[in-house]
Amino acid sequence: MLIKSYIAILFLISVFVAMFSMFEVLGRKNSETKVLIYRKIHRFNGVIFFVLYLVLTYLCLEFIVKTKTEPSARASLHSLLAISIIILLFLKISFIKRYTEFFKYVKGVGITLSVLAILTFSTSAGFYLLVSELGAFNLTQKITTETIASQFDLSQERNILRGKDLFTNKCSFCHDANSKNYSIGPGLKGLMKEKHLPVSKKPVTAENIITQLKTPLKDMPSFSYLSEEELKDLISYLNTI
Ligand code: HEC
Repeated sequence: MLIKSYIAILFLISVFVAMFSMFEVLGRKNSETKVLIYRKIHRFNGVIFFVLYLVLTYLCLEFIVKTKTEPSARASLHSLLAISIIILLFLKISFIKRYTEFFKYVKGVGITLSVLAILTFSTSAGFYLLVSELGAFNLTQKITTETIASQFDLSQERNILRGKDLFTNKCSFCHDANSKNYSIGPGLKGLMKEKHLPVSKKPVTAENIITQLKTPLKDMPSFSYLSEEELKDLISYLNTI
């Protein structure tokens, strides 16, 4: 997931290059040679922007296909913004290359495109980097299970076995229980013996794991439908791997 965020940062940089190269051409008086150079930069950068867009789209679609999960509200907004970018990009190119009577709209379309691209970044990679790297994740949703951890007896065999079943059915697709290797999500072996959770870096506590299950950081689907008992089973099992 992090690699996607890095590509997204390159994408964001290309948005700024596109904006400022055009601002230099249209927004102030520059010598003709400079204008030519900025135009070239703008065009070349446009190709990079498009390629990065395709790579990111591919990675996102691959993720959706693999996980077959219903997108969250944030993911839906993100996709809508991303689709509007490609529509505007094609409008813009067609106004320049073919439907030149519409040329006067190109500036407006360009600026809208930049704004939407920045918003697209913010609703995904921006969010992810903020919550995972800067660690400033403030939960708005109240955790109703705060008490679980204190009352827990993690060694109840019955709980562990049920937790194992749950894990196999609901988590193992994305999380390896036998290693710390990242597949779609981080490998969870030895999770409860660590000090910090692998992505958010929050302390390893039952509450923080349950928080991740109810309000995941980013790409993990929410398991807010699990009952308190099931959450307890899952934690009991995680404690054994
Ligand atoms: C569709 C894939 C997917 C499924 C299914 C899934 N996870 Fe995750 N999980 C992720 C991803 C991706 C992350 C990285 C953080 C994020 O994107 O939310 C993650 C992160 C985590 C973390 C680390 C959170 C942190 O704060 O660092 C824990 C713990 C976790 N998952 C537990 C589970 C458990 C338990 C289940 C089953 C009930 C589960 N996950 C199901 C994809 C998944």
